[in-house]
Amino acid sequence: MEIKILAKTIRLAAFVAVGACYGLVTHVVAVAHEAVAETQAFTEVEQHRPTPLPDRVVLTWSGDPTSSIDVTWRTDLSVGKPVVEYVLASELLGDLRAEVAGREQATGTSNEFSSDLGKCLLHSGQISGLQPDTMYAYRVGDGEHFSEWFQFRTASTSSTPFTFVYFGDAQNDVRSWWSRVVREANQHAPRAAFMLHAGDLVNNGNRDADWGEWFGAAGWLNGMIPVVACPGNHEYIDGLSRHWRPQFAFPENGPPGLEETAYWIDYQDARIISLNSNERIEQQKAWLESVLQDPKRPRWTFVTFHHPIFSAARGRDNPVLRAAWREILEDNHVDLVLQGHDHAYARSGLGGPKNVPEGLRRANSNTVYVVSVSGPKMYPVQEAWDVSRNASGAQLFQVIHVEPHQVRYEARLATGKLYDAFTLKKDNNGTSVLVEQYPPGEEIRR
Ligand SMILES: [Fe+2]
Repeated sequence: MEIKILAKTIRLAAFVAVGACYGLVTHVVAVAHEAVAETQAFTEVEQHRPTPLPDRVVLTWSGDPTSSIDVTWRTDLSVGKPVVEYVLASELLGDLRAEVAGREQATGTSNEFSSDLGKCLLHSGQISGLQPDTMYAYRVGDGEHFSEWFQFRTASTSSTPFTFVYFGDAQNDVRSWWSRVVREANQHAPRAAFMLHAGDLVNNGNRDADWGEWFGAAGWLNGMIPVVACPGNHEYIDGLSRHWRPQFAFPENGPPGLEETAYWIDYQDARIISLNSNERIEQQKAWLESVLQDPKRPRWTFVTFHHPIFSAARGRDNPVLRAAWREILEDNHVDLVLQGHDHAYARSGLGGPKNVPEGLRRANSNTVYVVSVSGPKMYPVQEAWDVSRNASGAQLFQVIHVEPHQVRYEARLATGKLYDAFTLKKDNNGTSVLVEQYPPGEEIRR
């Protein structure tokens, strides 16, 4: 892609001032513009070139969110040994221009990475031994070249309410059109515990420019709010995107070979499970059952994967995935299934959706299915479906508030306007009741 800069040379061809009869009026007879187009290439290599200063800083968890955090970043090849400096944010008082008192260091690892645009270093480090429910400041670098100081809060060990944000596919024109969505989401959930991406973060998982746009769109938010993500089919180009594992430090507690794509994380009252719907579907069943039947499983369970079990768009039904995973999800009372792939929006109530031949839900199911899209590419919705709320042609983000006895769900348009809402209440026996709260008005069809 080239960004063309149109340089206009304006030539004054004629300028004639005519004095009127009173000598006060000046009249421009003619001004001619001659435009001369010049182009200046600004290539992807130039746009996304790494420097000695860290960029693409992103927080994730590979361990316990109450006591650890992982950070990954990128530089050019010139920097030295990677280091993460961190300190209790509450200690940062007084004149901070000198040495920051009390800061500690965690060492990182660096790997040379060859993208389609050139070579860089991808660094990652884990900070561990942290106190729960505590804000820390950190920066990354090599002892000479550092990022700015970022801040994050560790998870609590108690049932404190929290909020997270869920995005369907960003994928296309991410710089142009996804930026406003992720930033509007931050306006609605500035203290989000994490941002969850249900795959297809980018269009081509092996294109460095695509990832440059994705990191640029979220900017510093990724350095403050941890990312949880599952890979979509667009992160599978001849296998898993080469960028995925070096740039995200996700748990390695999934089935062998699917580390960092199928995994689970406990965050306070919720277990978040990422499945990999691109490969080894059958292999994940036993592992998924064991994660769901773990007696230490917290009160709420949210599962994310890319390809929806109940498709929202025409001609995209996925009976293989449904046959493999649906019973396990519903029999084990997963609360929310958060999906992408269909570039449309559809959300079931309890007891639905009822729109596919075998789609009637199991009688005791408490599971709510969502398909959503945050980027600009859109597919028509499957009109025959009996879901609670759907949309075609709307960029959306979801803000999900998790409390001990209820989950409050909001889907919002890119403007921030509420488009869908419900509350899922759960009693002490684990029985859920869904209260529909979507606002009145027509569903979007564009
Ligand atoms: Fe997609």
